[in-house]
Amino acid sequence: MADQLTRDEAQDLVLVEHPARRRGPDGAPLEPPEWLAGVALVTLNRPRALNALSFALLLRLAEAVEALDADPSCGAIVITGAGTRAFAAGADVVELAAQTAESLAASPGFRGWDRVAAVATPTIAAVRGYALGGGAELALACDMLVAADDATFGQPEINLGIIPGAGGTQRLARAIGKARAMELVLTGRRVSAAEADRLGFVTRVMPASETLGAALDLAAAVAAQPAEAVRAAVAAVRAAFESPLADGIRVERDLFRALFGTPDQAEGMRAFVERREPHWRARGAIAIPPDGAS
Ligand code: CAA
Repeated sequence: MADQLTRDEAQDLVLVEHPARRRGPDGAPLEPPEWLAGVALVTLNRPRALNALSFALLLRLAEAVEALDADPSCGAIVITGAGTRAFAAGADVVELAAQTAESLAASPGFRGWDRVAAVATPTIAAVRGYALGGGAELALACDMLVAADDATFGQPEINLGIIPGAGGTQRLARAIGKARAMELVLTGRRVSAAEADRLGFVTRVMPASETLGAALDLAAAVAAQPAEAVRAAVAAVRAAFESPLADGIRVERDLFRALFGTPDQAEGMRAFVERREPHWRARGAIAIPPDGAS
């Protein structure tokens, strides 16, 4: 079974570039290369299957993103799909067809979406072409989503006799509201980038060839910010998505307080008073607990 592919086979399913290279308007790396400090690019690499998310790919994706999360030199992660036709056309339907309720519950690969969503480093999906089913769910699990004007989103699982199983019903409902999410989940209707923009679940829409470059530039802007404050902000905004308002406010307050006394807080405020640019501390161990408790 695909969960048991060898490490070498699995590694080709996901490519990691860290630090990532800046991209030109056509999406190709600039020559000579310009390195984007603190930015990692993770590419889903099954273009012939429209980057369908096999269990082996999901396992490798989770491992790659968690390794980057543990690397203090990584400040933002861009996830994209190889080729121009798809970010990911969903879970691998051929593989899914052979599953049972028990085998799915036991599959380490199926936990890939949750593992990506759980990393503390901010994640950005750069989506060209199809982001369907588990592909849309992976994009929605990222903190930001840069969509190409040729992107197509959808939750077509209902057409397979199932429902979204990697967070789609929950994240979509929270992102665009119950009535709109219900329609998309119940009909499997696909949504263009322009409609996704109107519905409010993408960060921005770009001309297709500029999408990856724009996502990497956004990641570089984030990675240049003070690391502890970035992780605190990510945890606080995620809490807005995941918890009742009162709990989210408590998380935000705890994280806000925890930043006082950090070197970057002292430097940021000192620089403001001295009317100069702040010099942020090199990325290092983050003292703030991920659940925001102080
Ligand atoms: N799983 C496995 N293989 C897939 C795939 C998927 N999700 N999506 C595409 N492929 C493969 C196709 O089988 C085909 O392979 P071959 O060339 O070997 O035949 C190749 O990718 C190209 O695809 P098509 O020939 O179908 O390309 P197209 O342009 O005619 O159609 C498409 C593109 C509309 C995206 C169509 O491929 C499609 O509908 N794919 C399935 C989408 C889907 O149902 N996704 C949800 C999966 S279930 C899920 O994700 C559950 C969950 O919530 C976790």
